[in-house]
Amino acid sequence: MFYFFFYFIIAIIIVINIFLAIGIFSFFKGALYGAPFVPTRKKIMEKMMELAGNMKNKNIYDLGCGDGRLVFAASEKKANAIGLEISYPVYFLALARKFFTHSSGEIKHKSLWDENLENADVIFLYLLPKMMKKFEQEKIPTLKKGCKIISNGFSFPNIKPIQEIKISSLQGRVLVYEI
Ligand SMILES: C[S@@+](CC[C@H](N)C(=O)[O-])C[C@H]1O[C@@H](n2cnc3c(N)ncnc32)[C@H](O)[C@@H]1O
Repeated sequence: MFYFFFYFIIAIIIVINIFLAIGIFSFFKGALYGAPFVPTRKKIMEKMMELAGNMKNKNIYDLGCGDGRLVFAASEKKANAIGLEISYPVYFLALARKFFTHSSGEIKHKSLWDENLENADVIFLYLLPKMMKKFEQEKIPTLKKGCKIISNGFSFPNIKPIQEIKISSLQGRVLVYEI
């Protein structure tokens, strides 16, 4: 009986550790792919929404949407808002927020590199320089004319923004690009 409980407890500990390892790996998967989960601050998010302009019935994407805050803010402005998130724990966090806010914004567990963006009207980004460079090379040529890209903090290496707004109280900046 003692041995049964001993092995039972050991088995439970092993299972918990496996789940923990999967969770931690998934959480940092975003970082491994080039951008860890760091949510946009409220003040910066408000500025990004303002810069997006009228979003009614427009196709708005947040690529690497984290907990979905920009997606839900855009769908409040009647946008057809879609967020893509690669990390499972962060994706589930976004789904939980969607549930509690009753938002119509769509959250997909998908890599941004696998999404067809030809119908995008506005794209929000908060990605590290390596991903910005890849995005410029691989995704920008597939976007339609007039598509706006609003980036929190990071710039594309070879394209000039049409606007750069500094948010000095947070030492942040938002860059706007138009295709
Ligand atoms: C800096 S966070 C930004 C979160 C959100 N956009 C915001 O502004 O609050 C970047 C997010 O991108 C996700 N990510 C990284 N690589 C990705 C990829 N290839 N496809 C989709 N999401 C990705 C990360 O998991 C992380 O949640």
